[in-house]
Amino acid sequence: MSDEQYYDCIVIGAGASGLMCAASAAQRGRSVLVLDRANKVGKKILMSGGGRCNFTNYFIEPENYLSDNPRFCISALRRYSQYDFLQLVHKYHLAYHEREHGQLFCDHSSRDILNILLAECQAGRVRIETRCQIEQVTQQHDGDSRFSLQTSHGTRHCHSLVVASGGPSIPTLGASGYGYELARQFGLRVTPLQAALVPLTLKGQLLAQLQTLSGIAVPARVGCRGHHFSEAVLFTHRGLSGPAILQISNYWHSGDAIEIDLLPGASLPEMLRDWQQQGSKAELKNLLAHHLPKRLVGVWLDMTPETRRVADKPVAQFSREEMALLGRHFQQWQCVPAGTEGNKTAEVTRGGVDTDAISSKTFEAKQVAGLYFIGEVLDVTGWLGGYNLQWAWSSGYCAGQYI
Ligand code: FDA
Repeated sequence: MSDEQYYDCIVIGAGASGLMCAASAAQRGRSVLVLDRANKVGKKILMSGGGRCNFTNYFIEPENYLSDNPRFCISALRRYSQYDFLQLVHKYHLAYHEREHGQLFCDHSSRDILNILLAECQAGRVRIETRCQIEQVTQQHDGDSRFSLQTSHGTRHCHSLVVASGGPSIPTLGASGYGYELARQFGLRVTPLQAALVPLTLKGQLLAQLQTLSGIAVPARVGCRGHHFSEAVLFTHRGLSGPAILQISNYWHSGDAIEIDLLPGASLPEMLRDWQQQGSKAELKNLLAHHLPKRLVGVWLDMTPETRRVADKPVAQFSREEMALLGRHFQQWQCVPAGTEGNKTAEVTRGGVDTDAISSKTFEAKQVAGLYFIGEVLDVTGWLGGYNLQWAWSSGYCAGQYI
C-alpha cells in the first residue's frame, strides 16, 4: 500500500467522540480514516465507570455542563440525545442498568460499548490505524485535499480533519494535549485548563488530622461557588475524594474554600435541642456517633479549642451559642484545598478549545474551513454520571453529519 493516501475525512483520536464521528460520517458514504497514537482504541471507554462504563444518563441537561459559553452544548445534546444513544444500545441488545441519579451502566463490561462503536465503524468501512504518531499537519488552499498529515505511517490527505484527541488526563492511557497544540497552530484560543472530576488535596495540620480518617466515607453536601452536590465524601491519605468531591472539583478554582455539611438534610442545633428536651444525659460525642462514624466525630470535635471544650459535655448543659457553633462546625465546615491530584487521577479536563471559534451546529472552526473539534478537547466539561461520554456521542455524531 502506498504511504500516501487520500480520505474524505481524517479523525485524530480513536476514543469516544472520534469513533462515534467516524461511524456517523462513514455511514453517509464518506471515506474515513481514524488515527490514534495509542496501541489500542478506546482506552478511556474501557476504564470508564470502573470497567462498566457509565455511558449516559437519563437526566441530561445543559446545566450539567461547564463552559465559558454555557449555551454551546445545547444544540448537539438535543440533536443526538441520551435516547438516541440508547437506541444504538438497544440495537445491539446490550444489557444495562440504572444507578442513582439516572446513571446508566453496562451490566457486563465497558468493552460492550466499545464493540458497538467498532461495529458501527465497520459497517461504514472506517479504517483505523493505531500506534500512529502525527508529526505535522499542514493546510492546502486548493483542490479537494485541504489538509496533509505527516505521520509515522506515511502522508495522509483529507478534505475534513476532525480533532477528537480528548484531554490530557491519565497520560498512561495515551492521553495528550495535542488537540490544544493543533488548535493554537490554526489560531484558535484555548481556555485555561485544569484537572477536573478529581480528588482534592489538603496539606499541613489539616491533612495530618484528616489522614487518620483515610478510608472512611460519609454522605455529605459539598458546596463551592454556589454549586452543591449531595453524595458521598471519602477521606483519603492525600485529602478528600468520593463523588461529591469529584463533582465539586469541576467548579473549584485554586484558593477557593469548599463547604461541607456532614449531616445533610438535618439540623444539628435542632437535634441538640431535641436531645435536651428528651432529658438526655449523654455526652455530645456519644450522641453524634449514632449519626456519623465514631472516629470522624472524635477528629471533628478535636479540631478547634471551642469544639474540644464541649466534646465531653452532656448535651443537657449546652448553651444556645454552643449549639450554633456546633451546627456551623459540622454543617458549614470550610477548608481551602491545597490543590487537586492532577492529571494522573482526573477523569476529565476543564477548559479547552474556545467554543466561540467553533460552530455549535457543525463543530467546524469558524475561521478554518474543514477543521473540526469534538469531545473533551473542547471547552465543555460534564458532571460525573455519564455526562462526558454523552457529550462525546452528541458532538461526535453531529460533526459526523457535516464532514
Ligand atoms: P478520548 O479520551 O475518549 O479519546 C481520545 C483519543 O485520542 C485517545 O484514544 C487517545 O489515545 C487519542 N490521542 C490523544 N493524543 C493523540 C495524538 N497526539 N495523536 C493521535 N491520537 C491521540 N465519562 C463518562 O461519561 N462516564 C464514565 O463512566 C467515565 N469514566 C471515566 C473513568 C476514567 C478513569 C476516565 C479517565 C474518564 C472517564 N470518563 C467518563 C470521561 C470520558 O472517558 C471522557 O470524557 C471521554 O472519553 C472523552 O472522549 P473523547 O473522544 O473526547 O476523548
